[in-house]
Amino acid sequence: MKIFIDTANVDHIREINSWGILSGVTTNPSLCAREQKEFYSTIREIASIVKGPISAEACSMEKEEIIKEARELAAIAENIVVKIPITPDGLAATKVLSKDGIRINMTLVFSANQALLASQAGAAYVSPFIGRIDDIGHDGMGVLYEIISVFENYDFDTEIIAASIRHPLHVVQAAQMGVDIATVPYEVIKAMVKHPLTDKGI
Ligand code: G3P
Repeated sequence: MKIFIDTANVDHIREINSWGILSGVTTNPSLCAREQKEFYSTIREIASIVKGPISAEACSMEKEEIIKEARELAAIAENIVVKIPITPDGLAATKVLSKDGIRINMTLVFSANQALLASQAGAAYVSPFIGRIDDIGHDGMGVLYEIISVFENYDFDTEIIAASIRHPLHVVQAAQMGVDIATVPYEVIKAMVKHPLTDKGI
């Protein structure tokens, strides 16, 4: 399982990247707004720090607008992946963009059916939001398992990103299920490296 960091904080990305364990970065509009920096230059800086896929989200909602915004985002750097929320327009835009070689991370996915549609539209990645499913009293890990088992039946190329990870146990459970990628907040990555017996042993 590859580990991505789920943040737009450049200092945090640099720190975790220096550990040698980071394969990519995911951002979303809320994470970018939190940094209070210009969006495009921040994404460009992140893409120069981490060589793996960097997800930047298109905020448009109508097919042609999504396509236009996605092309602008993809032009920032070779390793940019465009995040598009799953809607009918989002799927239609994904079909066009993926045919042109632009990699799409279909986001705000909460069911196996949504993930199935994303893969058929040509999304390179699909991002089920585990924590937000738990938040409404449903089983986020159960949904992740459904998606993994459906994709395994057909050997789809679309990679699954376990997103909206809230704590270290989510990461372990996602890895046990064999998910391709977990995108993990900075605080959770910091918690993953800690163990009281390691501290005591030192
Ligand atoms: O990768 C998706 C993530 O940013 C959403 O996380 O904690 O807002 O549900 P959260």
